[in-house]
Amino acid sequence: MREYLRPYYARLCCIILAAILAVTAETLVPIVTKSVIDRVVVAGIRSELVPLSIAAMVLGVLQAGLNFFRRWAVSGATVGMEKTIRDDLYHHLQRLEPAFHDSWQSGQLLSRATNDLSTIRRFAGFGVVFFITNTWTFALIVVLLIQMNWWLGLLTGGVFLPVTVLCLRFEKRYRLLSRRYQDQQGDLATYIEEAASGIRVLKSLGRRDEASARHLAQARVVYGTQVDKARLRGTFWAALDLVPNAAIGLLLLLGIVAVGRHELSLGGLVAFVTLTLLLVWPIEAMGFILATGQEAATAAQRIYEILDTPPLITDPAARPGASMDRPGLSAGRWLSDHRAELAAGVASPARPMAQGSGRLVFERVVFGYPEAPALVLRGVSLELEPGETVALVGATGSGKTTLLHLVPRLADVTGGRITLDGADIRDLPLPELRSRVGCAFEDPTLFSASLRENVGFGVPDASEAAILAALEAAQAEFVADLPWGLDTRIGEQGMALSGGQRQRVALARAILGRPEVLLLDDPLSALDVHTEAKATAALASVLAASTALVVAHRPSTVLLADRVALLEGGVITAVGTHHELLATQPRYRDLMSADDLGDGPDDGAGNNGRAAPGVTAGASR
Ligand SMILES: Nc1ncnc2c1ncn2[C@@H]1O[C@H](COP(=O)(O)OP(=O)(O)OP(=O)(O)O)[C@@H](O)[C@H]1O
Ligand SMILES: [Mg+2]
Repeated sequence: MREYLRPYYARLCCIILAAILAVTAETLVPIVTKSVIDRVVVAGIRSELVPLSIAAMVLGVLQAGLNFFRRWAVSGATVGMEKTIRDDLYHHLQRLEPAFHDSWQSGQLLSRATNDLSTIRRFAGFGVVFFITNTWTFALIVVLLIQMNWWLGLLTGGVFLPVTVLCLRFEKRYRLLSRRYQDQQGDLATYIEEAASGIRVLKSLGRRDEASARHLAQARVVYGTQVDKARLRGTFWAALDLVPNAAIGLLLLLGIVAVGRHELSLGGLVAFVTLTLLLVWPIEAMGFILATGQEAATAAQRIYEILDTPPLITDPAARPGASMDRPGLSAGRWLSDHRAELAAGVASPARPMAQGSGRLVFERVVFGYPEAPALVLRGVSLELEPGETVALVGATGSGKTTLLHLVPRLADVTGGRITLDGADIRDLPLPELRSRVGCAFEDPTLFSASLRENVGFGVPDASEAAILAALEAAQAEFVADLPWGLDTRIGEQGMALSGGQRQRVALARAILGRPEVLLLDDPLSALDVHTEAKATAALASVLAASTALVVAHRPSTVLLADRVALLEGGVITAVGTHHELLATQPRYRDLMSADDLGDGPDDGAGNNGRAAPGVTAGASR
């Protein structure tokens, strides 16, 4: 049991107790009626009429009051419980590494966080309460009937026994159908989500009909399972209806026989019939309750499949026996020491590069994706001195993005290690590591928020001046034309930005906190030649303040770097300046396409028209 659910369980226990007391009060009313008939009407003891009437009234008021409390308290408890589990699920999903998300369909996660949680809430608020109170009502009534007439009581109890057997059989079959239905619903949610997010691709390739057909096929599967479920439920409920209603007639007949044999009083017969009728609803409702119970059990199982998945990338503090290479430096302390500096961002005077600050070393780094047969990185060794910019060049699919992902620990190395200022990055607290490393990845993901929030994502208390300076450094001059400036909503359901504009916002986000280490995955790929030239010049001054690893496909970007590393076959095969590699590495020459093959701006002829004026290899230093 999750500790945070304890208060909700306590509240549910109170609600169940109130419900039990309410049905007990309801069940005792026929006993009072029996006394009125036997003692007041038949025996003529009139003095008992008033106390018995008061008792009946008290029981009625008690029942109404307790039911009011149950209904009033139940929604707060169950909605609160649903919210708390959803919060936990969300935080857990955030803790899980990207590889986990790669292996799960988004619709499956979505259906767990919405449908499954609602199913659990419904069961906690209705199913659990009535399962317990109905069982209690059944036991209480059978005991009261046995007290009135033992053989009639036992017979009544016995008549309902086949219902238990029926319930058990139903449960097994319904559990299978519930699981199938909930999984299929998750798949359907994935199709809908993909069709919405990929609408442009679908339309442009004319694949709308195929996507509709795929959706329709899955919707049909879900429909079929839903109908199977409803039919099974319907058959089961019909059987549940039949048993008590058929039994009532028989029991009434036997009750009259018992009265005739003076084994039951007249009041007893009335109480017997009333109590037997009170049994009908609990028995009939059992079918519905068991169905919601099965759905809730399946939903809980599906949610625990996520909650029970341990995050593989954790803080050293969370790993047993882990030691800190930098004793005494906690994430909290590091962040508080650097908070002002982070908030000031690029608007502050350039942060002095401390000796040994931001030295990034890859030591024989090996990495393979889980479930992928081949290793992507087979022993990458590369040293980046503090403040140095290294361009990473390699063919498509050679592992450049993968290598960058390893630094902020979006995945952990399979072999070898990466150190930052001498400390294995796995021994640094994650918040510290991720504050010291700024990233702009290939896919410039923006969130449904204002431009200000998007840029300040990693440094939430950054000043406006710092955000504007970061945007300026990223050459995002289009911001001036946005209708509400920094407060313009961008991302999904916001102002649509072009690919290049998104890239510049992502770049501004990466450089805002002036991270010690800057990882840029082809940061200027979507820019036109003129914007690229301006951005390159601006980027050069930003890169001067950080240790930077920049994935580059074009000479203009390569020229920002002090050195270039060539990634081939999962290893770094050559490191040197752009000119050295051009001269010595045919493969490097191949990668820098023919018309981009300028010797840099220093060739004077400007045949590398894309390079920013005055930017040469190492010129940014
Ligand atoms: N999530 C993943 N799961 C499994 N394999 C992956 C995953 N991401 C990438 N790969 C594989 O790893 C290899 C390296 O991919 P990576 O994205 O690092 O290449 P890249 O050098 O950045 O390419 P590009 O220049 O096209 O961006 C590729 O073969 C790719 O198929
Ligand atoms: Mg890549």
